[in-house]
Amino acid sequence: MTKMLREKPAVDAPKGRLGILLPGLGAVATTFIAGVEAVRRGIATPIGSLTQMGHIRLGKRTDSRQPLIKDFVPLQDLSGIVFGGWDIFEDDCLTAARRAGVLDSQLLDKLSDFLGGIRPMRAAFDPEYVKRISGPNVIAGGRRQWADQLRADIRNFKKQHELDRVVLVWCGSTEVFGPSTEVTDSLAAFEKGLDANDSRIPPSMVYAYAALMEGCPYANGAPNLSADAPAMLELADLKKVPVCGKDYKTGQTLMKTIIAPGLKARLLGLQGWFSTNILGNRDGEVLEDPGSFKSKEVTKLSVLDTILQPELYPELYGNFFHSVKINYYPPRGDNKEGWDNIDITGWLGYPMQIKIDFLCRDSILAAPLVLDLALFLDFAQRSGFYGIQEWLSFYFKSPMAPAGLYPEHDLFIQQTKLKNTLRYVMGEELITHLGLDYYGDEA
Ligand SMILES: NC(=O)c1ccc[n+]([C@@H]2O[C@H](COP(=O)([O-])OP(=O)(O)OC[C@H]3O[C@@H](n4cnc5c(N)ncnc54)[C@H](O)[C@@H]3O)[C@@H](O)[C@H]2O)c1
Repeated sequence: MTKMLREKPAVDAPKGRLGILLPGLGAVATTFIAGVEAVRRGIATPIGSLTQMGHIRLGKRTDSRQPLIKDFVPLQDLSGIVFGGWDIFEDDCLTAARRAGVLDSQLLDKLSDFLGGIRPMRAAFDPEYVKRISGPNVIAGGRRQWADQLRADIRNFKKQHELDRVVLVWCGSTEVFGPSTEVTDSLAAFEKGLDANDSRIPPSMVYAYAALMEGCPYANGAPNLSADAPAMLELADLKKVPVCGKDYKTGQTLMKTIIAPGLKARLLGLQGWFSTNILGNRDGEVLEDPGSFKSKEVTKLSVLDTILQPELYPELYGNFFHSVKINYYPPRGDNKEGWDNIDITGWLGYPMQIKIDFLCRDSILAAPLVLDLALFLDFAQRSGFYGIQEWLSFYFKSPMAPAGLYPEHDLFIQQTKLKNTLRYVMGEELITHLGLDYYGDEA
């Protein structure tokens, strides 16, 4: 369900330049920024990005219309993007990228001037929310001062770079698990909480607040709540700004949401799904803390239940065992290895097994999602969309959904929803894949 400013969306072509501000300039953020710059210089290909490489079918199959998405919908061109961000460490993006160890030094050397010029602004940070790290580059004072400073940062960034629009995408560490409390239950309570420096307000939510107050769309790439609280949704409605989250769908969960819909489509039963990972980057280090891991575990575990619908298929999925573990193992750095053992059942209950060993690169999988989210959120705002952008569920492990609605986790339904939203905005016929030929027409 997407809220709209007008009865029919009307999308204006992007004017001027787009600023992308990232709270958290670590592995994902620097891999994203370096990648976009490398693509702009013509020395790399944006593999994994739907906005840059994806095509979309329009009309009937016999029409043979399959344009690139970026030629079909008016998205911001990469040349008109300016980057900025905040971090608790003072490292510029070149130093942070070298430290993250994702991209090879040959590529980073070529981009050194550009990356070295992006320095983090002071962060809004509370060590109670991210236990394993601490850094000097933080805003003094309490939550109200943080909010005021972040809002000023956004305005200054826009002015300094002569930007037309700005979007924020959270690339900061995973904060400790915590449900929405009364201080985040309404905008009025939240504002009071800011004044009182109420420690129940997570720093990431102050970024979301600052973004929305400044009319900037906000995406959350981590599993912590951030914009996913009634106070933030109230503000998004008030300011008519789009939001989406949570937690980039990469690695093991991406595989899970590719395989589980296939098992369900063929009505193969599930007895158990055991997932374990080794990961050696700073994200892995933060996730060693049980509070931060709890946030991650909740988003990772919720996926199978909504795809498999045990309430509808109790014999197949009523009683499966699901476990997800993340182990911090420094030698691998950002190169994660994820193992899955899946115990399934077939005809007459005969057991079978599937084993997956995915040697993936976390930030390489996440970076194109940051780009797509920034461009699509900007597009959503220009189309008059606001509130939760469910059509962007495609990108998230734990998609935000309006109260009372369950989120859609099946990657293929998510993809259909995304593409049909683009067709809808651009006034094209929605594609149902019905394929009826009753009147001699190819659907
Ligand atoms: N890489 C993936 O595939 C993937 C997938 C899903 C989610 N994520 C999430 O994306 C986030 C970023 O991942 P990463 O690998 O880049 O981690 P990272 O540790 O390399 O970078 C996170 C950065 O955020 C900074 N930070 C923490 N709190 C901050 C705050 N309040 N304000 C500003 N900066 C802050 C840290 O100092 C660090 O530099 C994590 O929450 C991670 O769980 C990553």
